[in-house]
Amino acid sequence: MIVKYSSKWLPYLKEISDNSFPYPAIVWPNLGRYWVKMHFSSDPVTDTFAKPDGFYVLNQQKDAMQILKLCVHPLCRGKGAGSNLLHDIELAAIAVQSLVVINVHEMDLCTIYWLQKRGYKAVRVERNLFSDGRDGYSFCKGVK
Ligand SMILES: CC(C)(COP(=O)(O)OP(=O)(O)OC[C@H]1O[C@@H](n2cnc3c(N)ncnc32)[C@H](O)[C@@H]1OP(=O)(O)O)[C@@H](O)C(=O)NCCC(=O)NCCS
Repeated sequence: MIVKYSSKWLPYLKEISDNSFPYPAIVWPNLGRYWVKMHFSSDPVTDTFAKPDGFYVLNQQKDAMQILKLCVHPLCRGKGAGSNLLHDIELAAIAVQSLVVINVHEMDLCTIYWLQKRGYKAVRVERNLFSDGRDGYSFCKGVK
């Protein structure tokens, strides 16, 4: 299930992110400024051992919904959590009639393939986007 962010989960989100991005993210966003939701495989209200296995951070811009982070803990991948989160993002974009955009490291071929399979197209190269000096691809999907 997907639930809105609460700060008590922040250490778990940082752990998921640290384990998800071999190329350090440009910034760890100040989450209070963004739209953040987390994925749980069980209900965190009734299951006292539940912890988030993935999350997203969205920045709503004038004409696009920008995904700043979308990640699932490596031990929890391949079970649909990432697809559930992406679907939730697309519903948010539909609600405001917006595009969805996401930047991916040029060497992250798994994520590039994962996004392409879900209808995303690379529209631009962002030079030196990542802290290792590599480029990023800007992917985009119109969901109206
Ligand atoms: C991209 C990402 C969010 C996908 O999350 P996920 O929960 O694994 O996604 P899903 O389970 O919905 O889909 C995974 C796909 O890989 C397959 N898969 C099978 N076993 C897998 C495993 N052990 N690990 C990963 N994927 C696996 C699934 O069958 C599925 O295939 P499909 O694309 O044909 O449907 C996740 O891989 C991730 O966090 N990557 C690193 C962070 C990142 O690059 N984020 C995007 C840029 S911000």
